Amino acid sequence: MAIKGWNTPVYNAVKAYADESTIPFHMPGHKMGKGIPKKFLEHIEKLDLTEIPGTDNLHRPEGAIKEAQELCARTFGARKTFFLVNGSTAGLHAAIAASAKRGQRLIVGRDCHRSVIAGLLLAGVKPFFVLPRYDSEFGINMGLDAESVEKALKGAPDAAGVLVTRPNYYGVCSDIRAIAEVVHSYGKLLIVDEAHGAHLKFNPRLPVCALEAGADISVQSAHKTLPAFTQGAYLHVGSERVDVERLRYFIDIYQTTSPSYIIMAFLDIAREIMEKDGRELLDALLDVIENLSTGAAGKGIKILGKKIPAGFEQDRTRIVFNTASLGLSGYEAEKYLRENYNIQVEMSDPCNVVCISTVADDAESVERLFSAIESTAGDISTGRLPSSKISAGMPELFMQTELPLQACDAYEVLDSKGEKVPLKKACGRISREMVVPYPPGVAVICPGEVYNDKVVELLCYIVERGVTVHGIDENGNVNVV
Ligand SMILES: Cc1ncc(COP(=O)(O)O)c(C=O)c1O
Repeated sequence: MAIKGWNTPVYNAVKAYADESTIPFHMPGHKMGKGIPKKFLEHIEKLDLTEIPGTDNLHRPEGAIKEAQELCARTFGARKTFFLVNGSTAGLHAAIAASAKRGQRLIVGRDCHRSVIAGLLLAGVKPFFVLPRYDSEFGINMGLDAESVEKALKGAPDAAGVLVTRPNYYGVCSDIRAIAEVVHSYGKLLIVDEAHGAHLKFNPRLPVCALEAGADISVQSAHKTLPAFTQGAYLHVGSERVDVERLRYFIDIYQTTSPSYIIMAFLDIAREIMEKDGRELLDALLDVIENLSTGAAGKGIKILGKKIPAGFEQDRTRIVFNTASLGLSGYEAEKYLRENYNIQVEMSDPCNVVCISTVADDAESVERLFSAIESTAGDISTGRLPSSKISAGMPELFMQTELPLQACDAYEVLDSKGEKVPLKKACGRISREMVVPYPPGVAVICPGEVYNDKVVELLCYIVERGVTVHGIDENGNVNVV
């Protein structure tokens, strides 16, 4: 609610949401403070400090921050942990710059987040993209497998290493042990974008975490799945293959010189909460999800973890409902859940809604979610909610079988003069920007790549459904050279 006499739009927007008491199945993982003991939240404004005697310095930690990072490294089984206050984004930028030299190649899953593409651009590192496996039942990418990584290692022997996104937004986890083995057998470095997996370490019922599986660097958005504040993330070093001094240099460059002590304090608190109670809390959460998923599956509701293809696992705290099989696109289901059941999911796509559950959720909130989905299915069968016409074969539109042609390196187009053209007329033109539906933040086309029919068709489909797409302006134009 706005405060009378004050013109404060952002405050008004977040306060209005907070006052609605909508159940949040989205990040941040503390779920509006529910996952953090109240004592830590009292007078939180007084914790917003700077580098003064006693508070240490993130860029040269010698006291409290050093100790907190060491505790964190011990908990996560890392040789060294860096606190990140600019999200995983800064960690990925630093990891890429530290691992590959300007002009060198890095093998990257094409299902990577936009921050990875930006990191390559900033560091002048060339991607050698590998297409992820695709599941047509859910219409989603699964991730990379060891065979495709090995093929890429043979195809790009000069590459500095491999960067894999795992888990992906849907909680899908590739066989990271097999990938680590193959990457190391070629003497290369494995960086894992584990932005969605900071909680994996804390319960053996979840897929193995990247460090335990042999990753050299893992970057985790604590704020997504732990009770930490937005932008709080960790970068863990897992092996002696990493040049820690070079990494530290780039982390210093990419992070603000005014790090938030609130973010850092809650990175520390989140680690302590998880260390003390993480296993038990996750057990309770997974039990509820398992029971409810079995019940919902019996009623014909498709849930990702129950149907994961061989060779992949799913983090079952990520609840993915296939709404297309109920006769509704994920976008429509997201809207319906918010308007009718007071539930906000993390994201939707043409076929699914994706819900983030964390240790901050209790049985009641998860039950409300499943009951809302079951009622939505009921509302469709009674005709209260008309099912939509989901075009046949539509998920195939999302399957990438080949990459767009690469006309030049991404950083080359930065220096050329851009031109705005309507998306529908972009075929054959070189993209000057990455064009990224958000979420999930995976680029459909990258700078230097050429628009083709399929890219245009896919982007039109997404835009028509009202999804935010970075790289397409309010008039439907894209930037080309
Ligand atoms: C797979 C993946 N990697 C990296 C990021 C960037 O993380 P952050 O928002 O913590 O900077 C995201 C954000 O959504 C993501 O989904």
